[in-house]
Amino acid sequence: MAYETLIVEIEDYIALIKLNRPEALNALNSKMLGELATVLQAADANDKVRCIVITGSEKAFAAGADIKEMAEQSFVDAYTANLFGGISDAILEIRKPIIAAVSGYALGGGCELAMACDFIIAADTAKFGQPEINLGVIAGFGGSQRLTRFVGKSKSMDMHLTGRNMDAAEAERCGLVSRVVPAKSLIEEAMKAATKITEKSLITAMAAKEAVNRSYETTLREGLLFERRLFHSMFATEDQKEGMAAFLEKRTPQFRDR
Ligand code: CAA
Repeated sequence: MAYETLIVEIEDYIALIKLNRPEALNALNSKMLGELATVLQAADANDKVRCIVITGSEKAFAAGADIKEMAEQSFVDAYTANLFGGISDAILEIRKPIIAAVSGYALGGGCELAMACDFIIAADTAKFGQPEINLGVIAGFGGSQRLTRFVGKSKSMDMHLTGRNMDAAEAERCGLVSRVVPAKSLIEEAMKAATKITEKSLITAMAAKEAVNRSYETTLREGLLFERRLFHSMFATEDQKEGMAAFLEKRTPQFRDR
């Protein structure tokens, strides 16, 4: 299927989704948000996809929500359309792992989209920021909540109140991104990480994602119980038998997602 604002390739069990509005530094307009939700849902339901990678261009992962589209909107427009609510909810429902491969600007909604993915691999050129305050608004796609959980209150406040950008080195130092790679090898490195994930049991990868995400939703005690129950349930899978047998037999496991 062809999209107006995205380029989507599915190969070797990886769905590579490239944000593609170069004329606006991949600003997230309503068309792109709708297409992104549709593609993510389709990838989640597609047996030929075991991991999803979202990326942008060399200059910009995404420079935020589309300011031209938002400029004249009223409260009623934003509230009625549930601006950013659709994608925010949709991405939470995706059960397969999603990697954000970020080069250049990831600002406002762009930073928030990256943070809504399961982890971020950043090019050394990446710049993260929540500059909404400069526009007379605040973050609307999770920035105040996710950035605070990732980097702590002080740095999150600094980012949201001053609107300054963070470079890739700072983002790695404070735990916003999992690793920084040279810009020219960003896609290669993201695809390598995705390939590693495709080689695991999908059931186990989904359970790991579910368990980690639960840590953001609950108390430690409840989270530990949730993890333990999920861990116990893994013993009902054939892939647990295969994974452990393969280890003991010193061979590569042949997972069957069962
Ligand atoms: N929305 C719409 N268009 C945008 C855009 C955005 N967020 N960001 C960039 N563009 C457009 C520019 O208007 C420009 O278009 P024209 O050539 O037609 O004028 C084109 O992309 C190239 O941008 P610049 O000329 O500005 O490029 P630059 O290299 O000089 O600067 C930049 C790059 C620093 C990223 C700058 O474009 C910028 O500050 N962009 C806005 C960043 C921002 O404020 N993002 C937050 C948006 S609000 C939000 O995201 C709310 C939320 O939480 C959901």
